[in-house]
Amino acid sequence: MRFGLGGGAHRGGGAAPPAETETETEAESPWGPPPVIEVRSLRKTYGSGDATVRALGGPPDELTGEESGVDLVVEQGDMVAVMGSSGSGKSTLMNILGCLDVPTSGRYLLDGIDVGGLDEHQLSLVRNRKIGFVFQSFNLVPRTPALAQVELPLAYAGVKTSERRRRAMAALELVGLADRMDHRPNELSGGQQQRVAVARALVTAPAMLLADEPTGNLDSHSTEEVLSIVDRLNASGRTVVLITHEDEVARHAKRVVRLVDGQIVADVRQAPAEGPPPALRDAALFASSAPQAIAGPAGGSR
Ligand SMILES: Nc1ncnc2c1ncn2[C@@H]1O[C@H](COP(=O)(O)OP(=O)(O)O)[C@@H](O)[C@H]1O
Ligand SMILES: [Mg+2]
Repeated sequence: MRFGLGGGAHRGGGAAPPAETETETEAESPWGPPPVIEVRSLRKTYGSGDATVRALGGPPDELTGEESGVDLVVEQGDMVAVMGSSGSGKSTLMNILGCLDVPTSGRYLLDGIDVGGLDEHQLSLVRNRKIGFVFQSFNLVPRTPALAQVELPLAYAGVKTSERRRRAMAALELVGLADRMDHRPNELSGGQQQRVAVARALVTAPAMLLADEPTGNLDSHSTEEVLSIVDRLNASGRTVVLITHEDEVARHAKRVVRLVDGQIVADVRQAPAEGPPPALRDAALFASSAPQAIAGPAGGSR
């Protein structure tokens, strides 16, 4: 498990880190809440010299030498699918959005907080409070009952035992697993395990749910179950960012962003950011429309 455990590598500039409470800027702007994600000119390269791999951002401009980066703004309540073929930069972007890694250059404001200035401890707090992670491989703790799994992020956040229990049970209820709270991962199906992971992700009431191929290990029935939970979470206001290469998953999103070679090449809105996601807007229509390739750029593969 990576959340809450301090995976980032960003160093503060030598100054003593401010107290925990100072990492959040609660100032409300007259224009309403800040975007959940605001990414500007984001670039990420791995390695150096001839071995440099550009994972996010474009090549230098032939005339100016200027290097473009990824710009992405996600408003509160939106449900965004990030698509792209293997190697297009999806996981790199997810790791940066999840404050699990830092960009080479560019700016990232998460729920109004400039995470570029935070040290490792502060980043782990931001991860714990602002982000609910869901991974393809569930990442549950072995031999641990569902209820304890879901309580874990609350324990990191210092929530007291009785409140922890109450909230974890409510989260399990929400994913339809109240009757499985004593079950350990090996006593649950894949779909149920992922629903426990979703409960664990949402129990802290994070600003955003960040999911990397959440249905990648699930059969089609479990996939629909998990997606319908995510749909309902979004309908109740939770911001969702899903990384996926499956059209079936992406059609649940209100917006589809497509990455090719570390750059956003398409950004298609399928439903307004406010209001219910596509599957809940017109359930009958959604159910009857066959999953089909979502329009990308001409000739672009997913
Ligand atoms: N730790 C790393 N070191 C070197 N190159 C990396 C590393 N992680 C990813 N890359 C490269 O960055 C590019 C984007 O990778 P990634 O973000 O994992 O893509 P995706 O998740 O879309 O498959 C790929 O060319 C990949 O080989
Ligand atoms: Mg990946």
